[in-house]
Amino acid sequence: MKVRKAVIPAAGLGTRMLPATKTVPKEMLPLVDKPAIQYIIEEAVAAGIEDILIVTNRAKSAMDDYFDYYPELERRLESAGKEKELEEVKKAADLANIFYVRQKETKGLGHAISRARRFVGDEPFAVLLGDDVMRSEKPVIGQLIEAAEKYEASAVGVQEVATEVIGKYCSVQVSPLEERVFLASDMVEKPRPDQIFSNYAILGRYVLSPGVFDILEDLEPGYGGEIQLTDGLRKLCKREKMVAVDFQGRRYDTGNLKGFLEATIDFALDHPETGDWLRGFLKDKARGL
Ligand code: G1P
Repeated sequence: MKVRKAVIPAAGLGTRMLPATKTVPKEMLPLVDKPAIQYIIEEAVAAGIEDILIVTNRAKSAMDDYFDYYPELERRLESAGKEKELEEVKKAADLANIFYVRQKETKGLGHAISRARRFVGDEPFAVLLGDDVMRSEKPVIGQLIEAAEKYEASAVGVQEVATEVIGKYCSVQVSPLEERVFLASDMVEKPRPDQIFSNYAILGRYVLSPGVFDILEDLEPGYGGEIQLTDGLRKLCKREKMVAVDFQGRRYDTGNLKGFLEATIDFALDHPETGDWLRGFLKDKARGL
């Protein structure tokens, strides 16, 4: 079983990042010098994914423009001898085979994933949520693919979160298989305190069997009146094997202001052009200068 395809749902309205996201898709907001979604695509490519489907909506065409060539700009950079910039601009267009489908109605994450059925066909596929940007040594989706291949199962990427915040995510019922890998046997979206199975929440990464599509087609709306992916996975893990991988890496929720700023600062500290300067700047700030 080889995972060659990935789906990135990016059709949300970006209501947690207004007013900037009124006209700029939140996935296109830059984390230092690259749009957030580029980090996600690079993670998928680093894990051996070749074909990527982005689920978009009518306000997101800036994304397809970004992953295209821009001959006029490229000629200008070439004649000005700006080789590094030219390379970066072209790199975005050559990262992977990128496909797009629109989610015509905003009906939830499960509905967005169901739009990928024709693209995926009958093979396991990766899902990387457009808001969840990772910083890790080994690509997080690669960690899941490894477990999915080993156990011939679907895999969800989990981490332990505090009880006070698990209601923002989902909660997974887990039993240990090996270090950092569990069997997933049930789950609940946005749990109330009396519904919590464990503090392991799925944080934006999945490897799914195509069996999920039949389930999503018949799913009733769940939390918030939306078709929830978690409700589909709850059924899937009772029909087919599913593992939960406690992945190694730091996850940023770039769909909200604080998470976006945390990612910006951490990535700027890692960046060769800004790292030393930002360290000095933050030290001065901390000293009240
Ligand atoms: C979505 C999923 C939720 C998951 C979360 C991780 O929630 O529905 O299960 O834990 O992403 O980021 P949302 O962020 O859309 O509320």
